[in-house]
Amino acid sequence: MKYIYFITLLVLASATFGSAQFDNISDGCKNKLTALLGDQNINACFPFTAITPLVSNTGSMPSQDALKKAADAICGLPKCSDSLVSQTQTDVKSACQADITAKNPIATLVDVVLTLYSPTRDSICFKNSTGGYCFIESQAATQQVLQSAPKGQDPTLTFAGAPKEAVCTPCNKAIVNTYLNFQKTNPNAFSDIKEITPQDIDNAKSALTGKCGPNFIDGQVGDSTESLDKFQSQSANQKSDAMYLIANRMSFVALVGTILATI
Ligand SMILES: *[C@@H]1O[C@H](CO)[C@@H](O)[C@H](O)[C@H]1NC(C)=O
Ligand SMILES: *[C@@H]1O[C@H](CO)[C@@H](O)[C@H](O)[C@H]1NC(C)=O
Repeated sequence: MKYIYFITLLVLASATFGSAQFDNISDGCKNKLTALLGDQNINACFPFTAITPLVSNTGSMPSQDALKKAADAICGLPKCSDSLVSQTQTDVKSACQADITAKNPIATLVDVVLTLYSPTRDSICFKNSTGGYCFIESQAATQQVLQSAPKGQDPTLTFAGAPKEAVCTPCNKAIVNTYLNFQKTNPNAFSDIKEITPQDIDNAKSALTGKCGPNFIDGQVGDSTESLDKFQSQSANQKSDAMYLIANRMSFVALVGTILATI
């Protein structure tokens, strides 16, 4: 089993979509998705052509360099407006309803990407103290934690034992609070995503509070470019309780952003 970092997955889904590999999808849905790829308004804020090369070698994770190029392209354009995104999602839901119900992977991912577009786009563009992209830093840390774990260990347990330095970072704080704030203003945002239940989100909040202290999910996105040392010394006196981490296996999904899919 291979786990893929949440945000990377959403970038990849967009890239897959951009490459127009619409296998086994209804004609109505295929036509709608094809139209989206050529839509001028969408292309003005989301660069399909720039991120499509990411999926050229299917099966393997894109390199950090490929991810950086995709992020440069995405963050170099203005963010798509909420109204454009919600109109697009309404169109996709109506054209692709049967495919989404049948769990067609690409139709489902496009729907998820549209649902989570706003916090995901923000999260893709956060930079760290050395000017690198946060999601690439977080993905690398996540992979390292997973790789150093015993084979077959439940990822939740793995993260329960993960070093604070890898989890409680300014980048993860920025990403986590961006998603949680989005969920607060859009309480139904995650209801389409069957892999993430409200219970999972609560578990994840407890888990992160346990590991990183209560201020970690205080709703402040904070400064992702702050140095880790400064950030962690400020939160050093916060109570931490690893027991909270023993939660549902999906609990880190929305948060440390680890495991949305097995590929
Ligand atoms: C195509 O989709 C149908 C149901 O939607 C499924 O039963 C079938 O296995 C799929 N075929 C391929 C090649 O994925
Ligand atoms: C910042 O992120 C990049 C990846 O985007 C990473 O290579 C670098 O090590 C990170 N810097 C710090 C201080 O973690």
